[in-house]
Amino acid sequence: MRRPLIAGNWKMYKGLEEALAFARAFAPKVAHVDARDILICPPFVAIHALAQVFAGTNVLLGGQNVHHEDQGAFTGEVSAPMLKSAGATHVIIGHSERRQLFGETDEGVNRKVHASLRSSLSPVVCVGETLSEREAGLTLEVVGKQIERGLHGLGQEGASSLAVAYEPVWAIGTGRTATPSIAQEVHAFIREVLSKILGPQAASRIRILYGGSVKPDNVDELMAEPDIDGVLVGGASLEPESFERIVKYRG
Ligand code: PGA
Repeated sequence: MRRPLIAGNWKMYKGLEEALAFARAFAPKVAHVDARDILICPPFVAIHALAQVFAGTNVLLGGQNVHHEDQGAFTGEVSAPMLKSAGATHVIIGHSERRQLFGETDEGVNRKVHASLRSSLSPVVCVGETLSEREAGLTLEVVGKQIERGLHGLGQEGASSLAVAYEPVWAIGTGRTATPSIAQEVHAFIREVLSKILGPQAASRIRILYGGSVKPDNVDELMAEPDIDGVLVGGASLEPESFERIVKYRG
């Protein structure tokens, strides 16, 4: 019922030439994949050029961040209308690296979610606990608050284009993936929270992605879980072959 979303987050990797080389190699490999959405979130400066290569293909593009105002004197920032005009359809919001390294808060995430929706960009809102929070037994409390605050004021219309990514901070870039059952437990909880704030119907349609050391050799078991509706992939999305294998997970 929920169409899987397989998303790559390139972070601060790949200049324009490398990005274009990836796109030319990758697009034909996944041309026949249907019933799954494929999304790549490159650095801002590559979005427009990649949009030309991916035009008419089944590969979508997204930003990795967005400012909450549409325009203004905000040196160094990029707005939702700008992302949209460059060819993006999605945007990652509140990635843990932005929260940890750039001071993003749930309130800031919320403003960005509303800004994206105003421009018809689909937000992919990231949540997840740190290792010390998990060890202190606070995972569900932390994730629940991130969801409630980050999605404050979201209506039914916003809910229909939203995706949530559960990315335990201890699993990102560490090679330490959450086991499928750990991920499923948190995903099911996230769906309960979504149901509480947006209603059961909307919650049953929202895609909840898992992220954190997703690789070709663990994607199949993760995607087998009932509440894992896709993945958000960092390192393993940088090579066409490994991201192809992840897109073509066996479900
Ligand atoms: P990773 O990153 O796959 O390299 O762990 C995931 C992410 O940060 O979105």
